[in-house]
Parts: sequence; structure tokens; C-alpha cells
Amino acid sequence: MSLCGWALLYIALISWINQTEATKKSVSTSVVGMLELVQLEADLIDSLSTYADELEAKLKVLKSFVPKLQAESNEAVTQMENYVSNPINSFSLIRRMHEDWHDWKIFMESSIGQSQVAFLNKAKLQFPTKTDLNEASSSIVRLQKMYNLTAKDMARGVLNGKQYEASLTALDTYAMGRYLNKQNRDMAREWFVVTSELLKEQTPLTPLAGEREKVLHLFAQAIFDYEYYSIALSVFDHALLLANKTANPTLLSKRSKFEELARKEAEVVEKTNSKIKPSEFEIGCRGQFKQQSKLLCEYKSELSPFLQLAPVKVEEVFLDPLIMVFHDVLTSREIDELQQIARPLLKRTTILHNSGVETVHSSRIAKGTWLTRDFNNLTLRIERRIMDMVDLELSGSEDLQIMNYGIGGHFEPHYDYFEPDDLDEGDNNRLATLLFYLTDVEQGGATVFPVLQQAVSPKRGAALFWYNINANGSVDPKSFHGGCPVLVGSKWIMTQWISNNIS
Ligand SMILES: *[C@@H]1O[C@H](CO)[C@@H](O)[C@H](O)[C@H]1NC(C)=O
Ligand SMILES: *[C@@H]1O[C@H](CO)[C@@H](O)[C@H](O)[C@H]1NC(C)=O
Ligand SMILES: *[C@@H]1O[C@H](CO)[C@@H](O)[C@H](O)[C@H]1NC(C)=O
Ligand SMILES: *[C@@H]1O[C@H](CO)[C@@H](O)[C@H](O)[C@H]1NC(C)=O
Repeated sequence: MSLCGWALLYIALISWINQTEATKKSVSTSVVGMLELVQLEADLIDSLSTYADELEAKLKVLKSFVPKLQAESNEAVTQMENYVSNPINSFSLIRRMHEDWHDWKIFMESSIGQSQVAFLNKAKLQFPTKTDLNEASSSIVRLQKMYNLTAKDMARGVLNGKQYEASLTALDTYAMGRYLNKQNRDMAREWFVVTSELLKEQTPLTPLAGEREKVLHLFAQAIFDYEYYSIALSVFDHALLLANKTANPTLLSKRSKFEELARKEAEVVEKTNSKIKPSEFEIGCRGQFKQQSKLLCEYKSELSPFLQLAPVKVEEVFLDPLIMVFHDVLTSREIDELQQIARPLLKRTTILHNSGVETVHSSRIAKGTWLTRDFNNLTLRIERRIMDMVDLELSGSEDLQIMNYGIGGHFEPHYDYFEPDDLDEGDNNRLATLLFYLTDVEQGGATVFPVLQQAVSPKRGAALFWYNINANGSVDPKSFHGGCPVLVGSKWIMTQWISNNIS
């Protein structure tokens, strides 16, 4: 979206809505939201295991009774007339037919796993929705583009050159291909190629899949239907090889159809992300801005009596406009308490449009909550500390905002200030922003100022400060900034926007 486009949105004024479907779920938008899913899946697997036990018990009954029934029946069949001429046999046969088969019918009809199915039905209410899956898919795409990652590396758990204990299955990569098919066929192709490679190594874990050969044929057909012919052909060929059916005439005639289309398939234009020139934001997020020597790192004590007692380590990142990092301004215990307070309150963040309508928007993927500064002694203490640190008054400023970002969670570059035209007379604007990092982030999640070519990485306990408004009162477009997608980690931040208190 262009900068002008952004001006249409009060994107900096973040709030949340209570009741809409979109905000209720939205599991992938924060790491906290994902925790429940992990537990739910574990419970479902337990339930499936119980289901297997019950099936096994039923099977045991059958396996032990059927041979005995067969023995009796074999005897009768081989000497039929002789068998029924004995009153004992014929009585028994009549009784069996009248009674026992009725019971077998009941036995066969008795269904296994009613309670497990009921549990599954209840659990379904908490399952991620299609929207959740689409959001998670789009996060993967965002990470791929932002950090120039290949589908192959991602599928194998290699993120930015680092190997993680994580990997995707053929079903996962296939879902990515399907998601991308309509919007970016080059990227979709890349995911389908990985899918075909994975299918050759593993059988997907799905109850509906059945035997390996059948699975390969199903995937070959599906990928064919999406019109990625050469990939479909390679999966198809693997199925033929695997089942030693390279000479089967029916399959061969189908293969020649695949092959013909694969041959006609336009030479794949190798147009990958790597050839697209990255934006300044992307360069910043990748950590590729020219390294500037640190301007200054000092213990700041002159501002207030508090700082004379407890000087704060300050790093000046940029001078015009002033950007600084205060190190170690929140203790680990304080951060733990803030997270504990915020955790149950987190809701999907929305964007407030000029019209006053709030919507969930892909430009900001996170969950957050607001906290008044007089919420408790801790927030009061933080309020005091902020005023000491930056030597600015907080009266008239917005509440504290706490945020947690999930997979690919990010905030596209934006201004924190409001355009003067959008403000009523006497309205405050956001003079400065103080952004506390509550966590380290293993990979990604930097705060990037594309115009100034500055990137600051999250550091637990540190706070980033910058001015959005010039000394003469005009807004400063150089304060344009964004939060890079989180690649690995759970990013927590707390923001205090500081008003130019003109009232
Ligand atoms: C494959 O099938 C052919 C005959 O159709 C047979 O001669 C050959 O031994 C089979 N190979 C394998 C590996 O089963
Ligand atoms: C992106 O990654 C590819 C390798 O996967 C590399 O060849 C290319 O130069 C990278 N592009 C940029 C802009 O770093
Ligand atoms: C908050 O601080 C006040 C004054 O220092 C103290 O009296 C009160 O007990 C504290 N409250 C809590 C919950 O710690
Ligand atoms: C305000 O200051 C900025 C930067 O110092 C300058 O670019 C801008 O032109 C000034 N605006 C006015 C209205 O003086």
C-alpha cells in the first residue's frame, strides 16, 4: 500500500472490538493465542487413542468368536444332510438362527467411539477457522517475502540459515500451494514442487489417505487440476514406479496426457522473490542497513533527580529526529507482572478508520490490550519512570498499550501521528512514542525506520523513544516506522504515546 493509502487510515490509533467473529478467534495473531490449540490437540489425540482401544476390544471379540463359528459351520456344510438329521444339531441351528444372529446384528451395529465423537464435536468449536488458516498462510508468505526465504528451506525448518527442530509435511506445503495458487502462481509452484519432493519421502498422516500409491495418484491429480503439469507428472511417475506399474496400459495412457500438457506448459519463468528489488523496510528487517557506528552510549543522569540516583543507559540511534534506546528500564519481575495482567485481556488489534469504523486489518497482525497508568502500583511506578526518563508530562496521553505478536506478526510502516487535517481543533497529537520491548525476539521483529535507514532490535527491558512531531509543531514524516514480522519468537511490546499536551 502506498504512503498515501496509509494516510487514509488512522492506523496508529489502535483499538479493539469486542464481539465480532474476526476478533473472537484469530488464533495465529499472537503466540499466546496459539497455546490453547496445543493443549486441545493433545486432548484430541488422547481421545483418538481411547477410540482405538475400544475398536480393538470389539475386534478382539470378533477374532476370538469367528473361528469357533466357522468350525461349527464347516462341519455342517461338509455333511449337510447328516448334520441336520441329528435333532441336537438341527435344534441348535434353529435356535442360533433365531437368536444369535439377531445379537450379532446388534453387536455389528453398536457404534464405537460415541463419546469421542461427541468430544470432537465440542472441540470443533475451538478449531481454527478458514480465516485463521488463511491468516497463517499469509503470514508464511509474508515471512518468505520479507526475509527472502525459500519454500524448501521453510519446509525443512531452516529459517534464515538456522536449522530448527521443526518441519512441514506434504499436507502443509500442499495447503500453502493451494493458498497461493490464485494470487501468485510462481510462489504456488515453488510450494507444489516441495510437496512433490516430500510426497516421495513420506506418506501424509491423514486417515482418508489410504495406501501410498493411491495417495500419490490423488495428489498428482489435484496438482494436475491446478495446472502445474510437470509437477503432477513427477508425482504420477513416482506412483507408477512405487507400485511397479510402469507397464500398466490404462495408467500409461493417462500418463501421456499428463506428459503432453507438461511439455506444452510454458517454460517456467524463474521469477522468484530474489529478483524483486527489496523495499527499504525489507532491507531494514533483513538487518542490511549500513552499520552506523553508535552515536553515543551514556548514562543519562542530568534530566531528573530520579536519574541522578539511578542513571539510565541511553543509546542515541539518530539525532534528527531524535531516536534513543533506554536500556534496562524495566526489570524482569515487572515485565512478568505486566504480561500476567495483559494475558487474559489480549484481543485482536484493529485499525480505526477515519469513518470511525474499526476493522481487523492484515497490516497489523497482533493481539493487544490497553492498561490505564493508574491500574496498579506497578503501572503508577512505570508512569513515574517514563516521565523521569523522557522529561515529558503524560497527562492527556493515551493509556499504555500492551501487544503480543504471533506467526509473522508485524505492523506495516506507518506514522504514529495523526494528520493535522484529521484532527479537530484542540485535539492532542502524538508528540513522541516510547516503545518498551518486553521480550527478546529470536529472529525478526525489529523496529525499522525506512526513511532514516535505522533498525532497532527488540531487547527485553529496553525502551525505544522517538519524536513524531518537530520542534515547530509540524508532523515529521521521517518518523515513518514499522514492526518487522516476527520470524521466530514471541514479541511483546508496551507502548506509551506521549501527547503534545496543548489543552
Ligand atoms: C515389476 O514387474 C515386472 C513385471 O511386470 C517384474 O518382472 C519385476 O520383477 C517387478 N519388479 C519389482 C521390483 O517388483
Ligand atoms: C534471496 O535468496 C536467494 C537464494 O535463495 C539469493 O540468490 C538472492 O540473492 C537473495 N536476494 C536478496 C535480495 O538478498
Ligand atoms: C501500593 O502502594 C501503596 C503506597 O505505597 C501501599 O500502601 C499499597 O499497599 C500498595 N498496594 C499494593 C497492592 O501493593
Ligand atoms: C518545521 O521544522 C521542520 C524540521 O525542522 C522543517 O522541515 C519544516 O519546514 C518546519 N515547518 C514549519 C512550518 O516551519
